[in-house]
Amino acid sequence: AYYECAIMEVETKFNVLNKEFSLRYDRNPIETIKSRLKSPESIMGKLQRKKIPFSAEEIEDKLMDIAGVRVICAFPEDIYLLRDCLLKQDDIDLLVEKDYIANPKPNGYRSLHLIVETPIFLHDQKKLMKVEVQFRTIAMDFWASLEHRIYYKKGKDNQALRQELKDCADISAQLDLRMQAIRSDIENC
Ligand code: GTP
Ligand code: MG
Repeated sequence: AYYECAIMEVETKFNVLNKEFSLRYDRNPIETIKSRLKSPESIMGKLQRKKIPFSAEEIEDKLMDIAGVRVICAFPEDIYLLRDCLLKQDDIDLLVEKDYIANPKPNGYRSLHLIVETPIFLHDQKKLMKVEVQFRTIAMDFWASLEHRIYYKKGKDNQALRQELKDCADISAQLDLRMQAIRSDIENC
C-alpha cells in the first residue's frame, strides 16, 4: 500500500507539470502515464535471482522498482524537460539515473530510467519510498513493448529477429528526431 501511495504522489507531480505546461505554453509534454506495482511473484523471482534474503527491510532497501511510473512523451526533448522539472522538486531525491537514450542498449532499447526517493505522509509518520520512473517516447514505448513480448513471453530467439529489432530501433530513433525537428520548425514560424 505504501508503494501505491508513492506511485500516486509521483503521478500527481507529473499531472501537475503537464497541466501547467498546457495552460502556460499550450503544450502537453506527456502523452500518457502508465504505472504498475511489481507483483509478489516477480518480487520473489527477483529476490532469488539477486540472492537477496526475504525480509521487508531487504526488499525496501534493495528492490528499487517495486513502484514503477512510466511517462510517455511524444518528443525526446520533453523527456529531459520533465526529468529536470521532477528533480528540481525539493521532496525528490535522485538515487540512480540510467540514460539509455544517450546510450542505447546493444539490442536497441532506449528509455531514460530514474530511481527517485520521495516521502509519503501517513497519519503518524513520514516514510521515504523508492520509485522507478521510466521516460519514453511513443516510438520507444512501441518498440520496447514488442521486444518485451518477443523475449519475455514467447522466449523466441534468433539472430535475424534480433537484427530486425535493432534496425527498427534505429529507424524509430531517427523518426523521433525528425518529428521533433518538424515540431520546432512549426513553433518557430
Ligand atoms: P531489472 O533487474 O530488470 O530491473 O534491470 P536493472 O536493475 O539492470 O535496471 P534497468 O534500469 O536496466 O532496467 C529496468 C527496467 O527497464 C526493466 O525492468 C524493463 O522494464 C526495462 N528494460 C530494461 N532493458 C530493457 C530491454 O532491453 N527491453 C525492454 N523491453 N525493456 C527493458
Ligand atoms: Mg525491473
